[in-house]
Amino acid sequence: MDQEVDKAQILVASNRGPVSFSIGDDGTIDFRRGGGGLVSGLSSVAAETDTLWVCAALSDADRKAASAAPEGRLDRAGYDLGGASVRMLDIPEQTFTNAYNSVANSTLWFVHHMLYDTPNKPHFDAAFRAEWEDYRTYNAAFAEALLTGADDGAKVAVQDYHLALVPRMMRGRRPDLRIAHFSHTPWAPPEYFRMLPGDVGRQLLEGMLGADHIGFLSPRWADAFLRCCATFLRADVNWDNRTIDYGGRVVEVGVHGLGADAEGLRERAAAEDVAQWRSRLRETVGERKLVLRVDRSELSKNIVRGMAAFGELLRDRPEWRGAVTHLAFAYPSRGDVAEYRAYTEAVRRTAQEINDEFGTDDWTPVILEVKDDYARSLASYQIADVLLVNPIRDGMNLVAKEGPVLSENGVALVLSTEAGAADDLGSDALLVNPYDVTETAQALHDALNMQDAERQERNARLVEAAVALPPQRWFGDQLRALD
Ligand code: F6P
Repeated sequence: MDQEVDKAQILVASNRGPVSFSIGDDGTIDFRRGGGGLVSGLSSVAAETDTLWVCAALSDADRKAASAAPEGRLDRAGYDLGGASVRMLDIPEQTFTNAYNSVANSTLWFVHHMLYDTPNKPHFDAAFRAEWEDYRTYNAAFAEALLTGADDGAKVAVQDYHLALVPRMMRGRRPDLRIAHFSHTPWAPPEYFRMLPGDVGRQLLEGMLGADHIGFLSPRWADAFLRCCATFLRADVNWDNRTIDYGGRVVEVGVHGLGADAEGLRERAAAEDVAQWRSRLRETVGERKLVLRVDRSELSKNIVRGMAAFGELLRDRPEWRGAVTHLAFAYPSRGDVAEYRAYTEAVRRTAQEINDEFGTDDWTPVILEVKDDYARSLASYQIADVLLVNPIRDGMNLVAKEGPVLSENGVALVLSTEAGAADDLGSDALLVNPYDVTETAQALHDALNMQDAERQERNARLVEAAVALPPQRWFGDQLRALD
């Protein structure tokens, strides 16, 4: 953490917090610290600065732990949270479901990732209006908790599309606070954003403009946000400085790229469970080449087209039959949303179809695992020959950055142009249009054929770019923008 960040109290707000709880068979509560850029970023300042992380309780165990904690602060209940103070909000179940599943994940996520299959969806009816009111209530609960917890002049870093309304809800009541909003997703172009019904789009934009600083992972998403503000609010946008003059205030829009936490990754990858997975995977794949993907089972990750490209490769280039295995790790995600469940089924079907068409007694072309295992993912990064990262749209995509960092022999990266990571890695990855299955199949072929020296040289440059923006710096930049 650079020294110039002042020592004001720091508050973070995000739907998913840095810790989660589970109840064991004997009824005891167990807790697990999460990973990710925000956790590493905040941990780096938590030792020297007063911090408070406000998040939602996401399970019964979370609710139980939160309700037992003195003043609702989990750190005060004795959990080791790396110096951060954490407050989990117990949002009523129906309110949470409507805010998180219906509005945030089935609507805003779809708009920003351009996922709608428009003849059927979206379908904004009276039920959606009610869900939107719950999204407002959920945002208000966060705003209230932050207002209660914030000292004079505190810095507040609000995260993501779940909490777009929070900055405005706080602004009028506490002008002393310095508020940032950061989006981890892409931002929709105006042509897509305008699908949102009534004044929902306006409320979202105005909600975020309650902040002093609004951050994005890529200039593409920042500029899309500026375009939406100019189009729907008629706000006065300065395109050179990325500022927005609206409602008597000037708000700054910034780009803060996020890279891999190389040190944390290497340390974790040195553990015994990763070594065991490495041997097991090596045994499974044998002498064959390995094409790897690691994702949440998520529509925006474009897993079905990625597999279709692998199928096309085997169909059109028989030399690869029996010579390459596609390991696809697709971790369960957002299972309460019907589209996610259907998508995971489509992923399973596609893998099965390819295996039915090409599999032999001693070769399974696609090995799909729909189960979360971080150690296994790290081990697979170490030995992959090709890493396929082909999202339809992605705020950044850290798999594309983490894979090369852990690669032992250099990995050839096939990367979608629509991932924020393509801004940083584009010159050494094989870039593909995520909708173009044939182009992706060709890129897989080129990646598999890449000579060792070229692959290793590219990998070295990918690593250099991937580690240039560690999470500590990314988070520090958000805070410094508020100075
Ligand atoms: O990338 C956006 C994001 O909300 C992250 O902040 C989060 O880690 C990820 O998607 C997973 O989402 P969820 O918390 O819904 O599982």
